[in-house]
Amino acid sequence: METANIAIVGAGKGGYECLKVLLTTPNVLIKYVCDIDPNAKGVMLAKQHKISYVARLSEFIHDPEVDLIFESTGRPEVFEELSRAKLPTTSLVGSGGTRVIFSLLDSYNEVNRSLRSYKMNLERRIIERTEELEKLNTELSKEKAATERLYEQQREINEEKSRYLIHTTHQLKAPFAAIHNYVDIILDGYAGPLAQETRDLVLKIKTRCELLSETILDMLELARLKAQDLELVREDVDLCAVVNDVVERFAVSAAAKRLLVRVDAPKEPLIARTVGKRLFELLAVLLENAVKYSPPDGSIEIAMKVASDGKRVISIMDHGIGIPEANLGKIFREFFRSNNAVRFEPNGNGLGLAIAGEIANLLDITIEVESELEKGTTFHVRI
Ligand SMILES: Nc1ncnc2c1ncn2[C@@H]1O[C@H](COP(=O)(O)OP(=O)(O)OP(=O)(O)O)[C@@H](O)[C@H]1O
Ligand SMILES: [Mg+2]
Repeated sequence: METANIAIVGAGKGGYECLKVLLTTPNVLIKYVCDIDPNAKGVMLAKQHKISYVARLSEFIHDPEVDLIFESTGRPEVFEELSRAKLPTTSLVGSGGTRVIFSLLDSYNEVNRSLRSYKMNLERRIIERTEELEKLNTELSKEKAATERLYEQQREINEEKSRYLIHTTHQLKAPFAAIHNYVDIILDGYAGPLAQETRDLVLKIKTRCELLSETILDMLELARLKAQDLELVREDVDLCAVVNDVVERFAVSAAAKRLLVRVDAPKEPLIARTVGKRLFELLAVLLENAVKYSPPDGSIEIAMKVASDGKRVISIMDHGIGIPEANLGKIFREFFRSNNAVRFEPNGNGLGLAIAGEIANLLDITIEVESELEKGTTFHVRI
């Protein structure tokens, strides 16, 4: 916007008011204030603002830079003289018009002032809020760092625990194998003939030994999984092949209970990028449980499909004893066994699902379980 050069004629009360308003109006340059009285109120104000003061019209009326004259004397003869003498390029507003324009300008300036102060307020509040947020942010970062330190310590403790567990169970393995061997030697008669009662006792020792070795191996496996002390090489794995291997592995124990294991596999190979050996272990835990917790002469169904989100899902369904609803959240805990399971099958150490859970963690697999007491259980493995 171009600057308008203005002259005010008459510096009494009206002129003074005009001047005051124009001083706060943007894009306006007051070039002259004209009045015969050098002590008029407006003249004083003009001088304070270093505006040229003139006493006579002739002193500025021929200045071609003046765009607009505000006449505020209220005297018609002054207006007439101005109309006659002014250059054609200069506009002239008489007293009446000047009053209207200035009351409008005044309101405009008032609105502007309010807007400015509102804006300043807003800016101040934004600065205050930003400072508050920055303070909060620093506090949060400090808390985050503290939590991370705690988490790191926790991780180190867990690793230490796992290393310790691996070490001790490992040390148990050798003496146990030795006991096992001695028991076999005794049973095979190399330590002399055995009375029937002694043989029965030694056979019991052998069974206990076998169960304990299993527990030791499971604990070792679990500790290794927790310590992430395993090489995990992911490759394209044919899930149907893994499922068939697992079924094969439990064929004897299933047949012993006359359980029919049905596999519903898709025609084409179902491929997933995972660690085949660990997936086998995970599925083995689930099928072992299905066989273990099913009454004889039943069936177990294994289904495989691709879910809508692209995940491969393997479901193992049995019609066995089921899991009490209250225990569904506990079955992945180490050494947890449900009462109905202990009654149905006293042997077991409650480590199978803990191992399966750790493997699932490592391989980004989720295991979901649905179960109804005395109706059966289904585990869905999403890969
Ligand atoms: N298919 C199933 N049917 C019924 N209960 C089950 C089934 N699978 C798991 N459970 C419950 O979850 C518990 C934990 O299972 P997990 O495999 O960890 O231990 P376990 O079978 O008791 O012993 P092991 O360590 O020898 O496998 C079981 O004791 C049982 O209560
Ligand atoms: Mg089990």
